[in-house]
Amino acid sequence: MTEADTAIVIGGGTMGAGIAQCLLESGVAVAVVEPDRQRRHAARDRVADGLRRRYKARPEADAAVTAALERLALTEKPEPQPKATLVIEAVPENPAVKREVLALAEERFPGVLMASNTSSLSIDGLALHLSRPERFLGMHFFNPVPLSQLVELVVGSATVQVAIEEARGWVARLGKESIEVRDSPGFATSRLGVALGLEAIRMVEEGVASPADIDRGMVLGYRFPMGPLELTDVVGLDVRLAVARHLHETLGPRFEPPQLLVDKVAAGQVGKKAGQGLHLVSSLGLPCCPSPESNASGVRAGG
Ligand code: NAI
Repeated sequence: MTEADTAIVIGGGTMGAGIAQCLLESGVAVAVVEPDRQRRHAARDRVADGLRRRYKARPEADAAVTAALERLALTEKPEPQPKATLVIEAVPENPAVKREVLALAEERFPGVLMASNTSSLSIDGLALHLSRPERFLGMHFFNPVPLSQLVELVVGSATVQVAIEEARGWVARLGKESIEVRDSPGFATSRLGVALGLEAIRMVEEGVASPADIDRGMVLGYRFPMGPLELTDVVGLDVRLAVARHLHETLGPRFEPPQLLVDKVAAGQVGKKAGQGLHLVSSLGLPCCPSPESNASGVRAGG
């Protein structure tokens, strides 16, 4: 890859904007495809804000931001890009939508390395309608993309080694690290992260300890940067529930969502974005230990 390369990011939401920002920082040109006009504008603003934050310590910060933004194009549909070398799909986690978007991208950008940022869907399943699945894999970025160091590369059964190497090259270019995982439910990160989060929620249900103490146990005892309950609040209880359901279906009963999680999502207490969740309750004065008898809705939510 060279500075003349163009990377196509399909979907200009939370992840697409973050990925676009990182690609711009790496020096390439970036085309973001976002059908929604308002979201297109919001994506540009988010990228610009992100670049300003990244470059603020530089002597020529404004000029650096302007120069990076000159390499950014936002379009409603995929436009021809003769120098396209990478496509990253970051549309909503809906297999039908993703398959359609990927098939169209393959037609528009033949031979280009194609990646999906899916956080849970099967790469082989997404590759169903691709004529060159060997050039397709998962590039699972983490939120917020500019601050996260990891990209999980998810290798489909058809993905060839040269495509994996190309993806590794892109990750290195972005200044991030990659791990390589075989296409399997929850990949490596979601599977382990969700397992820990679900067990922590079951511990709250059982009154083993308060949410704050469960989190402090992992932060202070195991040097986690954030406890599993707080992380669930940050990710979103709704997102975690959807992944848990998927893993329950594919990997079995150990991923059965705890009732507390189901109840909180039904009540709209989905974490940070709602101002109410699991760990949030403790900082807002939840009593130390909920009694074991207290049912899910008996555990007080914050706010
Ligand atoms: P989002 O909802 O913020 O953004 C998705 C964007 O795709 C929206 O702006 C939407 O208008 C656009 N879109 C819808 N249909 C489209 C189409 N046909 N062509 C082009 N754009 C289209 O979603 P978010 O959070 O950015 O997630 C995107 C993907 O990244 C999902 O697969 C998600 O599972 C994955 N992911 C999300 C993480 C997160 O923390 N939000 C973390 C890691 C992966």
